[in-house]
Amino acid sequence: MNEQQRKEMNQIKDNPADKKSVEDKPLSEKTSEDFAKYFESTYQPPSLKSAKKRGKEDVNVHYDFEIPEDIQGIGEGKKFLIRTYGCQMNEHDTEVMAGILSEMGYESTTDQHEADIILLNTCAIRENAENKVFGEIGHLKALKREKPDLILGVCGCMSQEESVVNRILQKHQFVDLIFGTHNIHRLPQLVQEAIFGKEMVVEVWSKEGDIVENLPRQRKGNIKAWVNIMYGCDKFCTYCIVPYTRGKERSRLPEDIIQEVRQLAAQGYKEVTLLGQNVNAYGKDFEDRTFGLGDLMNEIHKIDIPRVRFTTSHPRDFDDRLIEVLAQGGNLLDHIHLPVQSGSSEVLKIMARKYTRERYLELVDKIREAMPNATLTTDIIVGFPNETEEQFQETLSLVEEVGFEGAYTFIYSPREGTPAAKMQDNVPMDVKKERLQRLNAVVNHQAAQAMKKYEGEIVEVLVEGESKKNADVLAGHTHRNKLVNFRAPRSTIGEIVKVKITNAKTWSLDGELLETAEVK
Ligand code: SAH
Ligand code: SF4
Ligand code: F3S
Repeated sequence: MNEQQRKEMNQIKDNPADKKSVEDKPLSEKTSEDFAKYFESTYQPPSLKSAKKRGKEDVNVHYDFEIPEDIQGIGEGKKFLIRTYGCQMNEHDTEVMAGILSEMGYESTTDQHEADIILLNTCAIRENAENKVFGEIGHLKALKREKPDLILGVCGCMSQEESVVNRILQKHQFVDLIFGTHNIHRLPQLVQEAIFGKEMVVEVWSKEGDIVENLPRQRKGNIKAWVNIMYGCDKFCTYCIVPYTRGKERSRLPEDIIQEVRQLAAQGYKEVTLLGQNVNAYGKDFEDRTFGLGDLMNEIHKIDIPRVRFTTSHPRDFDDRLIEVLAQGGNLLDHIHLPVQSGSSEVLKIMARKYTRERYLELVDKIREAMPNATLTTDIIVGFPNETEEQFQETLSLVEEVGFEGAYTFIYSPREGTPAAKMQDNVPMDVKKERLQRLNAVVNHQAAQAMKKYEGEIVEVLVEGESKKNADVLAGHTHRNKLVNFRAPRSTIGEIVKVKITNAKTWSLDGELLETAEVK
């Protein structure tokens, strides 16, 4: 599309008649122009300001995804490579894109020199995540020069930011394709446009789209699987870019989720992780029913699959019903990742987390009472604008009080477009770095202590494959999500086995296999 067409596209006014006819068309027959009409001026370039809007319009669920005939087979004899950055949501989106590309005839490769299409599925959560991607784009320039027919695409959360799209348009014109998180199902058409068009193809929707249910997936592995239960986030924590890059909260229908988990169980998967940015808000957007995460977990509890996890929880919406359901145990595992971000109620307030230190601690008490064996882990940000030494110490004391057995810890990174990015900040970077080190020392100490307790114990481990460091050793996780390395026949991969722990390290356990028979 040229500049003139692009302008015209942005000028198309909303017309209910057009909207209707677009909605009536099957998904695969819709064109870029149809979507441009439907999304008004949100068709390229993206805008974080539009992304912030939360409309009341219904979210439609589509079951009619298919690859148009003229695009099927377009990838015959060709290969694709997707590099994934960021969270599990992105990992899973990559599986969907891999599924779509496979249906177009492409085969997967891990060698970039063999690839005919390379996609970077990006993360925008912190500046260093973005720097990595720009570094990679820079590296790929040489490859693109060698292989001019290579299609180089950028997708994921960074594509939703106008500053990123503008930077690519200006400085990295060798990129062929940019698309965002809301239009992954348009990949066939976008790849076709990128192959046959002369200009860079940019299609990013600022506003979230509908839910598309029947997208193909090429899952990584056949033991553990990701299952989306909801998309987007409405929490708008003041530091966070996710509500802008992922749109408003949209829950998948329980019947679709349950069917997917049942299918995975039937295919022999041993573990599912239910995914959402704020899974505790699951179901809040349903208008025709009251059905929350507790209800969903209760249904999934009944499915014959050995292990069910979920991530990520927001303390604010973690309700009693969920605790009651999780306390039943069974396939619902004893591990809760409950990001706290800070131990200071003042900082939490400025972060707009909508709970206090005390409320968080009360919730932890409730969980502990109902699930005495549960492992708790968390996420923490240090060096939020103007964080004082005292406030930081409140974080340290909370970490100790809760006894987290692990934490992802981060230095605050300003994200353009978020309220916190506009705050004056009087905390120098070296102080932030020093706080991170102090925090990590406490977290590592607690993690090591928690691991020590396992020495001599017998645990059940889902054998996931070779250990990362030594191909002769197998590795897997316990119920409480502890990594265990041990020697065992490869035939145990995919089984749940009993292992006696012989040695504890900070982040993993070494053990000896006790029996090869599967433990139920
Ligand atoms: N939805 C999840 C978090 C997703 S992002 C939740 O609310 O728990 C994962 C983690 O990245 C967050 O928990 C937070 O600790 C961190 N994070 C998010 N924005 C950040 C920023 N601007 N700077 C540093 N860390 C950030
Ligand atoms: Fe970001 Fe907060 Fe939403 Fe988590 S809950 S994704 S931290 S806005
Ligand atoms: Fe990153 Fe987007 Fe996930 S910003 S953390 S990839 S939702």
